[in-house]
Amino acid sequence: MRVLVTGSSGQIGTNLALRLQADGHDVFGVDKRQNAWSDAFPTLLQDLAGHYPAFAGGIGGVEYPEVDVVVHLAAHAKVHQLVRQPHRALENAIMTFNVLEYCRQLALPLVFSSTREVYGDVHRFEEYAEEAADFAFTESPYSSKITSEAFIYSYARCYGLDYLVFRFSNVYGRYDNDLWRMERVLPLFMHQLSRSEPITIYGGDEKVLDFTFVDDCVDGIARGVYALHESRLANQTVNLAYGQGNTLVRAAELISTALGVEPQITIAPSLLGEVTHYVADISKARDLLGWEPQTPLADGIPQSVAWFREWRAAHPEENRPFVRAQGPDELEHGFKQPAGAGA
Ligand SMILES: NC(=O)c1ccc[n+]([C@@H]2O[C@H](COP(=O)([O-])OP(=O)(O)OC[C@H]3O[C@@H](n4cnc5c(N)ncnc54)[C@H](O)[C@@H]3O)[C@@H](O)[C@H]2O)c1
Repeated sequence: MRVLVTGSSGQIGTNLALRLQADGHDVFGVDKRQNAWSDAFPTLLQDLAGHYPAFAGGIGGVEYPEVDVVVHLAAHAKVHQLVRQPHRALENAIMTFNVLEYCRQLALPLVFSSTREVYGDVHRFEEYAEEAADFAFTESPYSSKITSEAFIYSYARCYGLDYLVFRFSNVYGRYDNDLWRMERVLPLFMHQLSRSEPITIYGGDEKVLDFTFVDDCVDGIARGVYALHESRLANQTVNLAYGQGNTLVRAAELISTALGVEPQITIAPSLLGEVTHYVADISKARDLLGWEPQTPLADGIPQSVAWFREWRAAHPEENRPFVRAQGPDELEHGFKQPAGAGA
């Protein structure tokens, strides 16, 4: 099978591309930045958020190689950044539109990466089944991924698009450590705790999230890609998470234990736009994909810390104080920036 993966230089994209290759498939990546971790698959550098009038063999008139399935992962995927810079949420929708037009013109099936943010933060349920999403509860501009979902459902109705929408939740594990581009909470804690620095937990013990080990997430996506390609499954929206709630405090404690350090923790109120409680109902993924997540947080954190240590040992230059990017054009170029930049 030939699979086009947008956002192939990101955390999930890199893991997915390598998994699909290991399964014997060809991967063609499209991203606006180079992959910082792997050169094992070809990546076309392209901004997918352009306003492109028409495209024959690829988005923006660029000829892509022939593919059988498209996995659309490219997005601005950072909640707080989108609260500060909501135009990026609009770019997410434009990217999805471009990918949809490409799929429509070439009659390609599409796998899309949505998010638990589409449920909002309304504490309405113990677990969130797929039909609970409602645009009236959007919590932040990032929740507007529900816009992309709406585009996809309309393309299925009007143009016969075959799709699978997956909603992810707090994916963690290897290839998530480019903090200066993509500040994510668990790699940030690993970075800070490994340097014996204090950490701040926004939301404290009240913040309960469904952390998903990246191999579980990627296994679910891969199963979806194969089922869609073989016409065993289409036009479904499916939660992919571990299906269990853990506090962020517990996650930080597990990281500290794996690193062998005593954490200094400050608790602060949750940030604007944050989801503070989410536990996925994953029964649909089990039923439709025969998928079962394998890695609870207590196993996934030590594996993640082991990968983090290995990477850090090979890249000692990354062991420097973390400075949060600020300003209207926050930096997106990760650890490769010149020393001292990033403020
Ligand atoms: N990781 C999670 O916890 C999580 C949770 C819910 C949903 N998701 C969704 O899954 C997808 C993948 O997430 P990820 O964690 O790998 O994110 P990521 O940021 O690591 O990867 C996204 C990639 O998209 C690329 N991209 C952004 N704008 C682009 C543009 N205009 N043109 C081309 N490429 C562009 C980025 O360069 C990046 O490599 C995203 O759509 C995200 O919203 C992720």
